[in-house]
Amino acid sequence: MIRLDKFLCDAGLGTRTEVKQLIKKGLVQINNESVKKSDCKIDETRDVVVFQGKEIGYQKNVYIMLHKPAGVVCATEDAKERTVVEYCRGVARDLFPVGRLDKDTEGLLLLTNDGELSHALLSPKRHVVKKYEVHTKYPVSFEDAIALEEGVDIGDEIKTLPAKVIIKEAKILYLYITEGRFHQVKRMLQAVGNEVVYLKRLQMASLVLDEALEKEQWRYLTEEEISELKTYYLHKRLPVLKGKEAVIFDVDGSLVDSMWMWKKIDRDYLAKFDIPLPSNLQQEIEGMSFYQTACYFKEHFPIHQSVQDMMNTWNEMAFDKYKDEVMLKPGVLRLLKFCKEKGIKMGIATSNSRELMDVIAKAHGISEYISCIKTGSDITNGKPAPDIYLAVAVELQVEPSKCLVFEDIPAGIKAGKAANMEVCAVKDAYSMDSDREKHVLADYYLDDYRHLNLG
Ligand code: URA
Repeated sequence: MIRLDKFLCDAGLGTRTEVKQLIKKGLVQINNESVKKSDCKIDETRDVVVFQGKEIGYQKNVYIMLHKPAGVVCATEDAKERTVVEYCRGVARDLFPVGRLDKDTEGLLLLTNDGELSHALLSPKRHVVKKYEVHTKYPVSFEDAIALEEGVDIGDEIKTLPAKVIIKEAKILYLYITEGRFHQVKRMLQAVGNEVVYLKRLQMASLVLDEALEKEQWRYLTEEEISELKTYYLHKRLPVLKGKEAVIFDVDGSLVDSMWMWKKIDRDYLAKFDIPLPSNLQQEIEGMSFYQTACYFKEHFPIHQSVQDMMNTWNEMAFDKYKDEVMLKPGVLRLLKFCKEKGIKMGIATSNSRELMDVIAKAHGISEYISCIKTGSDITNGKPAPDIYLAVAVELQVEPSKCLVFEDIPAGIKAGKAANMEVCAVKDAYSMDSDREKHVLADYYLDDYRHLNLG
């Protein structure tokens, strides 16, 4: 016999406190009866526990993190080669690697006998983030990085999906991808005329390679690591619009697919002054208002334009891109229509400028859905300060606790939380490097607006 809250924790539905809330809300049934007591005892071998219509099985599975060395193959058996499961012989029957790394690739490998979790992590639909350290034969230019991020032709029918590149040194980069095509990283680098000379996986989903593990060493995953994997990838927690009186959207990366554009504008703008783009610029200016970003540029680069002229130039550069190239994220329009139908108010809280926001709203015909727009032009205190979200709530006349925020970067998620609102993190290729932090900070996580169940 086992306590219900422990059972649900072990099954990965959340922390003790979180599962207690779920039980209290009456979302859990035992043998078809709703229960509201966390300490009630169940027989995990017989009782049928159901959460939101899905039966929760109790299994004591094994989860292992291996620091895979080069020279072994990702298979359970091989007639000729040494396999990764040989490191963990005798630990559990039916152990298998979750996905494949090439024989010469090193780094993080998850081994388990949990077929359901493995399936969820490998499902092409889930687009689980993988982070690689890539050493290349030739230096990676900024242009190559942009090409890799936008998607390259690797000889398959379709180009690779948007990725994220951080150039660490001339011939070392971090590459974040959400697919698992055969030899994908190697073929991506080939597509830009380069060659991979060393490849190491550092992260898969929320699981990060433990640097204390030497090559060939393994350890069991901690309770927390297991719970994170299961909570994020097995039991998806999607935001509930019921009870909400307003939804508030961040714009770039949350409402529209535009994050790619700013890197290009930054590059083209600095190029006007012969200044190369520092690889950490995006991280430095994350969450800053338009004005704060211009002040940052003024302080850090030898540019003779005034802060105001700088903002005007960026506006001009962005204007056409927003009008002609930037798209709404798939499924957004359906959500806007749904909210309108249900009387849920909609607002915008963006660090972007008022002028650009007007262009976006007009280009996509979304003005009729939005009752309040606050921009970096109205609120100088940028995210993660809660000011902009609070200002939208005041204008919409909705209590912060009845607002749901859609945000794609940690600073924005923090702003929404600091405003006492529920926040749903939105997946975006350009914030993949903070995907795990987003999961931890936000109340919910959304891969794609089309996955929202609007009934
Ligand atoms: N991409 C590759 O090319 N090889 C790996 O092992 C993993 C991803």
